[in-house]
Amino acid sequence: MGLTKTYKDGTKPTVAIIGAGFSGMCAAIRLQTQLNLETYQVFELEPDLGGTWWSNTYPGAACDVASINYQFSFEPNYEWSQRYANQAEIWAYMRRVAKKYNLYEKIRFRTEVTRIEWNNSRQKWIVDYMDLSTGERSVMEADIVFSGAGPLRIPFIPKQFDDFEGPKWHTAQWNHSIDLTNKRVAIVGSGASAIQVVPSIVDKVKTLEYYQRTPSYIIPRRNGPYSSLWKFLFRYIPFFHFIYFKLNYYGSELTINIFSNKLIHRLPRLFTTFLSWGFRMWQVRDKNLREKLTPKYEMGCRRIVVASNYFPAVCKKNVNVHTEAIQTVKGNTLTLKDGSVQEVDALVLATGFKAQEMIPPKYLFGKNGVDLEKRWGKNPSTYYGITSPETPNMFFLLGPNTGLGHNSVLFMIETQVDYAIKAMSYMMANNLSAIEVTPKACQEFMTELDKRMQAKVWSSTCQSWYQNSEGRVTALWWGSCGQYWWRLRKFHPHNFVASKRI
Ligand SMILES: Cc1cc2nc3c(=O)[nH]c(=O)nc-3n(C[C@H](O)[C@H](O)[C@H](O)COP(=O)(O)OP(=O)(O)OC[C@H]3O[C@@H](n4cnc5c(N)ncnc54)[C@H](O)[C@@H]3O)c2cc1C
Ligand SMILES: NC(=O)c1ccc[n+]([C@@H]2O[C@H](COP(=O)([O-])OP(=O)(O)OC[C@H]3O[C@@H](n4cnc5c(N)ncnc54)[C@H](OP(=O)(O)O)[C@@H]3O)[C@@H](O)[C@H]2O)c1
Repeated sequence: MGLTKTYKDGTKPTVAIIGAGFSGMCAAIRLQTQLNLETYQVFELEPDLGGTWWSNTYPGAACDVASINYQFSFEPNYEWSQRYANQAEIWAYMRRVAKKYNLYEKIRFRTEVTRIEWNNSRQKWIVDYMDLSTGERSVMEADIVFSGAGPLRIPFIPKQFDDFEGPKWHTAQWNHSIDLTNKRVAIVGSGASAIQVVPSIVDKVKTLEYYQRTPSYIIPRRNGPYSSLWKFLFRYIPFFHFIYFKLNYYGSELTINIFSNKLIHRLPRLFTTFLSWGFRMWQVRDKNLREKLTPKYEMGCRRIVVASNYFPAVCKKNVNVHTEAIQTVKGNTLTLKDGSVQEVDALVLATGFKAQEMIPPKYLFGKNGVDLEKRWGKNPSTYYGITSPETPNMFFLLGPNTGLGHNSVLFMIETQVDYAIKAMSYMMANNLSAIEVTPKACQEFMTELDKRMQAKVWSSTCQSWYQNSEGRVTALWWGSCGQYWWRLRKFHPHNFVASKRI
C-alpha cells in the first residue's frame, strides 16, 4: 500500500530531528525520499555530523560488524577498503551520504536541544534550542519529533580519576594533540574501546599500564582488504553486492542463539565459548597472564569482542596487566589495592558510557507536563523502544531495548524510521494531529520483553551497560533483527489513541 504524503489540505507536518548520527540522518533521508517531506530541521550539538563516528577518533576505532552490514541498506558502499572499516572511513561514508541528500543544508550544527515540551492545546512539541556558538536561545514548534540522541554518547568518567594531574582523556574525546611516543601510558577499562586502543598504541608507548577489572570474551576478527576485483564485482555484477550483504546479515542473525538460555541453544554458546577459549590458549602462551585474561562469567552476558590483534598486544613486554582494584589516584600516580604503584605520563579512560541515562534531567516533558526522565526512572517503558505513552508524535531512534549484541544496529534504526514514516502516513491519511501509544499496548510489550529477557544470558548476574542498577536489561532487544522487523512491518493503529485535527 502506498504512503499518504500530505494532509487533505495539502499541508505536511513539521518535524524536528534531534541528532545527526546514523539515526538522525536516516530519519531525514527517509522523510525526504518516502514522504517527499522537506519541512524538517535537524539539530546537532557538535560542529559536524556523525555522532559516534564523529566523536570516537581513538587509535584503532573501527566497527565490529562487517562494514557491508554497517551501512544504510538504501546507500550501498562498493568502496569499503576492508571487511571492518575504521572510523575515518565510516565517517567519510556518512558525510558522502549526507551530501548526496543535501542534509548539510538541513542541519543546525553547534545547536543543542535543551528542552522539549508537548503543548496539548496546540498539539505540538515546543522545542527549545540554543546556538552553542552565540548562546542565543530559540524555539521551534514541531508536529513530530524524532529523537536520535545516541545511546552510547555521554562518556562515563569515574570520579576517582579527578585527581590525576597529568593529561587524561576518555576514548570518545581522544586528545590528538599529545604524542604518546615513548610515554608511560595508563589505560583503564577492558571493553570494546580499550581492546581497540591497546594494540594501536602498544608499539609507540614506552610502557602501557593496563587496568582490567573484568576481562572480555574475545573471538577472532577475520579482517582483510577488499581487492579491486571485489570492488569491481560489488559495483558491476548484478546482485553480487546485495547477496554478499545478505550473507553477512544472515550470518550475524544466526549468532542470536548464542545468547539464549534454552537447552536446545546451548550448543552455539558452547561452541563460541570454546572458540574464545582456544583463541586465548593459542595467542596467550604465558599461563599467569592467560589466567588474568580469562572471563569468569557466562559467555555473551557482556559484549563479545571481535579482535585478533589484542592478545598479541597485551603479551608484549612493555605491557603490564593489572587486575587489582585502583585504590587511589594522586598526581601522576595510581596506587592499587595490593599496594603497587605506577607513575605514568598520560591516562586514557576507556571506561564506557552513561548508557542508562537515556533522557537528561528536566529535558523532556510530555502530556500534562509529565517529566519523562522521572516517569521512566531506571525502567524506561516504551512500545518497541520507539514510542511511549504521554509522548504523542515522538519517535525514539535506538531508544530503550533496541540495541543489539549480535548484528548491526543500522537495521534497527531503519526499521524504527520506517515504522514512524508509516505512522505519519496514517496520521495524514486520517487527518490526525496526534497519535499516542496506549498504556495497555506499552505494558503488554514490556511484560513480554521482561519474560523473554529471562531466557537470555544478558539477564544473568554479570553486570554490563545492558542492564540498569537492578539488573534489568534496558538496552537490548530480546530477539533477532528479523523478529523486530516482522513485528513492526505494519503500523498498529489499534494500539494508539488518535486526536483529530481541528
Ligand atoms: C566506539 C563505538 C563503536 C561502535 N561500533 C558499532 C558497530 O560496529 N556496530 C554497531 O552496530 N554499533 C556500533 N556502535 C553503536 C553506535 O553508537 C551505533 O551504531 C550508531 O552509530 C548510533 O547512532 P545514533 O545516531 O543513534 O547515535 P549517535 O551516533 O550517538 O548520534 C547522536 C547524535 O545526537 C546528538 N545529540 C544528542 N543530544 C543532542 C541534543 N540535545 N541536541 C542536539 N544534538 C544532540 C549528538 O551530538 C550525536 O551527534 C558503536 C558505538 C561506539 C561508541
Ligand atoms: N565497534 C567496536 O568494536 C566497538 C568499539 C568500542 C565500543 N563499542 C560499543 O560501545 C560499547 C561500550 O564499549 P566501551 O569499551 O567504551 O565501554 P564498556 O564496554 O562499558 O567498558 C568500560 C570498561 O571500563 C571499566 N571501568 C569502568 N569504571 C572503572 C573503574 N572505576 N575502574 C576500573 N575499570 C573501570 C569497566 O570495567 P567493568 O566491566 O568491570 O565495569 C569496563 O571494562 C561496546 O559494548 C560496544 O557496543 C563498539
